[in-house]
This record gives sequence, structure tokens and C-alpha cells, in this order.
Amino acid sequence: MSMLTSIRTSNQKIEIIDQLLLPHTTKYVEITSIEEAHDAIRDMKIRGAPAIASLASLAFAAYIQTGIDTAPPPAFLSSSDSFSAHVISKLDYLFGARPTAVNLGAAIRRLKAVLQSSTEAGKSVRLIATDLISEAQLIADEDFDRNKRMAAHGSEWLVELDKESGGSGEGLNVLTVCNTGSLATSGYGTALGLITYLHEQKKLGKAYYTQTAPYHQGSRLTALELKTMRIPSVMICDTMVGSLFQHHKIHAVAVGADRIARNGDTANKIGTYNAAVLAARHNIPFIVVAPISTVDLDTPDGSCIPIEHRKPLEACLVRGAVHPFEYDAEGRVRQETVMMTPSDLEGIYNPSFDVTPAELITAIVTEKGVATRKGGDTSFDLSGVV
Ligand code: MRU
Repeated sequence: MSMLTSIRTSNQKIEIIDQLLLPHTTKYVEITSIEEAHDAIRDMKIRGAPAIASLASLAFAAYIQTGIDTAPPPAFLSSSDSFSAHVISKLDYLFGARPTAVNLGAAIRRLKAVLQSSTEAGKSVRLIATDLISEAQLIADEDFDRNKRMAAHGSEWLVELDKESGGSGEGLNVLTVCNTGSLATSGYGTALGLITYLHEQKKLGKAYYTQTAPYHQGSRLTALELKTMRIPSVMICDTMVGSLFQHHKIHAVAVGADRIARNGDTANKIGTYNAAVLAARHNIPFIVVAPISTVDLDTPDGSCIPIEHRKPLEACLVRGAVHPFEYDAEGRVRQETVMMTPSDLEGIYNPSFDVTPAELITAIVTEKGVATRKGGDTSFDLSGVV
């Protein structure tokens, strides 16, 4: 099945698809430095918790590799102390690109741990650098397989749940929020991976997805991914979730996560909480699909998760192509950004994420399996999962 790719690499060249231009223009931009990776993540040319961790790791690996390959070597390679200080400052800088998605922080922590253990083992600077490059590459590479594993765990569990509740296990309709597919990861996706897996197993009825204002990851990116994979799907506006649940049989809501606290409270794209409240009201299972690296045991509950607020202006703009399509000199669809509010509005609330309390979540699916709450508990015990 044809899938879009958020990051492509060849011969040490890293390119990302510019997600701000999708769905009308597919343009890969080269990332040639740590600064460019940082800015691409901050400006959301690449987004999705696992994808930004992968890009940060790959850009970091390329930077270290270039240092090794340069003659004469740059000053930071001259001693293990200067190397260590330099690496830590670069990693801290990358870490600051977006605050809520913990996968980036987990990748940075892993790289710092390798730096520490290889240094403590008394290795040469070049060997420490090689260890870091291998770890960074692994962080990006491991994402695809674990996504497939969690998609299989989650969809098999959902099919069983449906059978237990008297359903046929065929034709499950699943609602998702935001974009959690191959564009948001190193491939296959998390919640959208679950939907894709159900489709591959011929168990999917339809995928439903919210537009996901104000960035429209649903109507721009999930729409494109589902169309590319020819998965039957229906777009709804964010305001239509309640109506959808009232008038259509929806078997589950499946969403991704940017950070899962120790008790299971989950930060994900703004609007996820609304869908969870409505799903509880309609007795629809609400499933979070995310890799273990999204579980943050250092964060006890959702109130401690830092929530990124985007620029107020971003909530006033809508970007897209003029319709009927107009083309530029290179044959690309002409795109425009349009202001949909009066200018200079005084009050604009624009959090990028919200937190869904654990008690509204039926199951958390990771590459290790499916965690559910023990009877009567309002939270999860994730210490055994990580
Ligand atoms: O602001 P974004 O587009 O980076 O937000 C993305 C999400 O909220 C996703 O659901 C989450 O990162 C999981 S992606 C597999």
C-alpha cells in the first residue's frame, strides 16, 4: 500500500516533506543543520511526536558525522570534556523546539545517557561520537516496526471487544483526531496505524476524522493519507463529534498522544478531550495508541504536563488553495493564507494540546500490548508497561 513519508534520507542527506504546504504541494526540503531541524519542528513543517523525535535524532547524527569527517576536526572534538559540553548544548537546544511532545525529550535523554556511559567507559571522542550516531539512527529506525506492533495489538483487542459486546467484528467505524499516520511518525502511524491495520485485515468499516482546527492536521494531512491509501473515510468538522455519535454507529475513538502521564492522563491535540467526553457519554471505547517513549513516568498526572500555546495569530488564519485551482509558473497549485477574523482581536485562546483524564480512556495501546484500567480504578498503572 502506498504511504506518504515525512522524512527521507540518502547518503547523509536528510529531507522532510513540508507539511505546511500539504495537501496541495508535495515539496521536500533539505535539513542541513541542527538549527534547521529545530526551526522546522518549531514552525511545524514537521510535526507529530514521533516524527519530530526522529528528525531531531537524525539531524544530530548528521551533525556529529560531519564533525568527524571534517579535516582538520572542529574544536569540539578535541577532548571528551569539550565534546560532552558541546553535545549537551546542542541536545538542549533541540529539546526546546516544542515542549509538550515527550518523545523528543525521551530521545534527548537516551542520547545523553549514551554520552555519559561511553564517556565513563573511557572511550575516545571518536568512539563516543560513533556510539551517539548509532543511537540516534536507532531512535529514528525503530519507530516503524513498533508502530506496526501497536497497530496489531490495538486492532486485535478492538475486534475482540466488539465480539464480546455482540458485534460481528466486521466493518468497525473508528473516529480519530489530528494526524497520527506516516506523516506524524517514521512510518505507518499510531492511531492511524491502528485504522490502517484494521483496513488491511478487512475489519474496517470507515475511518472518521475531525478537521482539527486551527492547524487542520485532519483535513489537510489525515485526509491526504487516507486518500493515498484508498481507505474509506469521512471528514467531520470538530463541532460535529456529538452529532456523529448520535446518528452513526461508531465502534471506537482512537487517538495518538504527545505525553502520557504515569496515571494515564494523556495530552494530545486540542479537541481530543472533547471527543473523549462525548465518547464516554455514548459508551464508545476511547483508545490511546502511542509508543512507550510517550509514557512519562516522571510526570505524575496531567496537571503537570506543559501545554504549548501557539501564536494567537495562528488561530485566526486558514491556509489552502484557491478554488477552482489556480497554478503558478511551475505548475503548482497556488496557495493562500486567509485571515478569517477581524484583525487585532484582543482575546485569543490557542493551546495546541489538551489533556484527557485517564478515567475517560478505555485502553492505552503500546508496542508491548494493551493496558486497561483495573475494575473501578480511575487511573492506569503504567509502571509495569514501561
Ligand atoms: O501539533 P502536532 O500536529 O504535532 O500534534 C500532533 C498530535 O497531537 C498527535 O496526535 C501526536 O503527536 C501523536 S502523532 C503519532
